Amino acid sequence: MRKVFVTGGAGFIGVNFVKYWRQQHPEDFIINFDALTYAGCRESQGELEEQDFYYFVKGNICDRSLLHEIFTGVYECLPKPDIIVHFAAESHVDNSIENPSAFIETNVMGTQALLDAALKHGKIRFHHVSTDEVYGHLGLEDAPFDESTPYAPRSPYSASKAASDHLVRSYFETYGLPITISNCSNNYGAYQFPEKFIPRMITNCIQGKKLPVYGKGMNIRDWLHVDDHNRALEQILLRGEMGETYCVGASDPEKTNVDVVRQILSAFDLGEEMIEYVSDRPGHDFRYAVDSSKLQRELGWMPKVPFEEGIAETVKWYRENEAWWKGKV
Ligand SMILES: NC(=O)c1ccc[n+]([C@@H]2O[C@H](COP(=O)([O-])OP(=O)(O)OC[C@H]3O[C@@H](n4cnc5c(N)ncnc54)[C@H](O)[C@@H]3O)[C@@H](O)[C@H]2O)c1
Repeated sequence: MRKVFVTGGAGFIGVNFVKYWRQQHPEDFIINFDALTYAGCRESQGELEEQDFYYFVKGNICDRSLLHEIFTGVYECLPKPDIIVHFAAESHVDNSIENPSAFIETNVMGTQALLDAALKHGKIRFHHVSTDEVYGHLGLEDAPFDESTPYAPRSPYSASKAASDHLVRSYFETYGLPITISNCSNNYGAYQFPEKFIPRMITNCIQGKKLPVYGKGMNIRDWLHVDDHNRALEQILLRGEMGETYCVGASDPEKTNVDVVRQILSAFDLGEEMIEYVSDRPGHDFRYAVDSSKLQRELGWMPKVPFEEGIAETVKWYRENEAWWKGKV
């Protein structure tokens, strides 16, 4: 039985990861550790809360004494973790422009507190969930990001994630902490907080509101279904090589924001008049694209969910789960 310590397991990807891991590895004990910021929702775990081998702890990754209690097995007599899967972060670029400090605190200082806990309590296996945004952005003709792309973050969010990636890597090089890092493209799927692009567009359609699109909607993204991301994380956790980084993306193919909006509008039989072009985000990254060939070649991962299928399923989920997102818009 593995004892898996998941940070940020009440947020979008973490919620889906915990559900996926429970389904695939029901023998493992999961400790879901989350501060429940505005982006965290404990109820998303639903019936898991009632099950054995699952325990939710409301806590902040910056709280070193709480981490110490958990990693020494003192806290609520929980089993001592032997794997850390680190999702917890401030994750919304717009918020990072308004208030960068919260991003440095959680994404950098919090990650360091967690790394120290992992090191101090027996060099616990540590996987750091990161973003392709650390590589900056691409022009139309540029080759996709891969593991050798130099870091060039352009927002306080991506800069804080870049700093955390460097720290994680340094704990491998300096102290021999067994780490892996994944840098993933934009995710979509169920349980994503409605501040983010795809759920914002879907929930606005449901409410009959206009769809605000930055600039001319020509920014390009590489959208990956959250289940494909979590399948990639599973492969890295089970078979990844220590000290390595893996890029994760769909290349399905890349899409402009306005293409994505059109696809969502068509699911509601709505037309382009619903789009409202708004002034662009400062420093808005133009294009992201990710080359996942290392992950495919070395760990046999392939994305399974075509965008058309995944987006239809996501629209259906938001339609059927208004109670989940209504209080959050
Ligand atoms: N969403 C994406 O498209 C995407 C893509 C690539 C990588 N990532 C990375 O994946 C991770 C998860 O992203 P997400 O979209 O699920 O984010 P999210 O904002 O939906 O969830 C973040 C979770 O972390 C928790 N949290 C925040 N600060 C905390 C703290 N100090 N201590 C403990 N918990 C805290 C929040 O309560 C929330 O539950 C992040 O590290 C993000 O950088 C996200």
